[in-house]
Amino acid sequence: MPAINWYPGHMAKTRRMLQENLKMIDVIVEILDARAPKASRNPDFDDLFIGKARVVLLNKSDLADSNATKRWISYYAKQGIEAAGVSATGGAAKKIAVGLIEKAAKPRVDAMKAKGVNKTVRCMIVGIPNVGKSTLINRIAGQNRAEVGDRPGVTRGKQWVKITPYLELMDTPGMLWPKLEDQELASHLAYLGSIKDEIMDSEDLAADLLALLQTTSGNQLIERYSKVAVDTPKEELLNAVCRSRGFLLRGGELDTERASHVVLDEFRAGKIARVTLEQPETGV
Ligand code: G4P
Repeated sequence: MPAINWYPGHMAKTRRMLQENLKMIDVIVEILDARAPKASRNPDFDDLFIGKARVVLLNKSDLADSNATKRWISYYAKQGIEAAGVSATGGAAKKIAVGLIEKAAKPRVDAMKAKGVNKTVRCMIVGIPNVGKSTLINRIAGQNRAEVGDRPGVTRGKQWVKITPYLELMDTPGMLWPKLEDQELASHLAYLGSIKDEIMDSEDLAADLLALLQTTSGNQLIERYSKVAVDTPKEELLNAVCRSRGFLLRGGELDTERASHVVLDEFRAGKIARVTLEQPETGV
């Protein structure tokens, strides 16, 4: 499923395309990564979708700290935006997402109903790469899409999938660019694997991540890599992982490169701990 790429590289064209698409849309569904809701939110979200009903889905919540997810949900609630934690890979995602979308669209639907019109709500899923847009679209639209495709003579033109009698989802995600100016936020996206590893040195990245996990989830880190201690200095952390797993090169040298990939893979798969890298600002 190719995404509509709203990348700043072709800003003017992109804006036009966005505006064209937005005309048809009643509800924007912003997908964020629940482990890094700040870093995974495109800084222009607010400007781009001004005047649209919006909901926020904190996806991959199975990998995030559930208390932090609750705090993020109330942070958005205070701003008048309905948010929910979901796991696009899990069974409940569709029900939660559709419920939120219908709630966000209700004022519009009710206003139309008062005029005697049964309005069809159209929604679109947007977000930066790797937050789970395609997975969620498949989860919400999957079966309905197959039914349409199977009917002879039905062209699949502009990709609207009927979810309920009055709700349609665009079958293509809107792709937004990530926020990379802030070094700390950029490193969060790198830990999550949402920006290409090639632009980072994997050993530096893994060492930084290990140091962070030492503070957020020390016990779980030690449980996973037994030779890591609470006070292992940062420059020794990868060595400790090597010793925990017996990662040695010929000649007995520690294979820190292998350790760095293992640490990043295991963190991304949620095997070390459920961690949320960012907290909402308090007092908002
Ligand atoms: P995108 O369209 O926003 O770029 O993201 P996409 O759906 O391709 O999802 C990116 C990766 O995140 C996929 O893994 C997907 O399975 C995983 N993912 C999506 N939602 C969730 C979730 O709620 N929980 C967890 N744990 N993972 C999720 P992948 O390794 O790239 O692909 P695959 O192994 O699933 O094939």
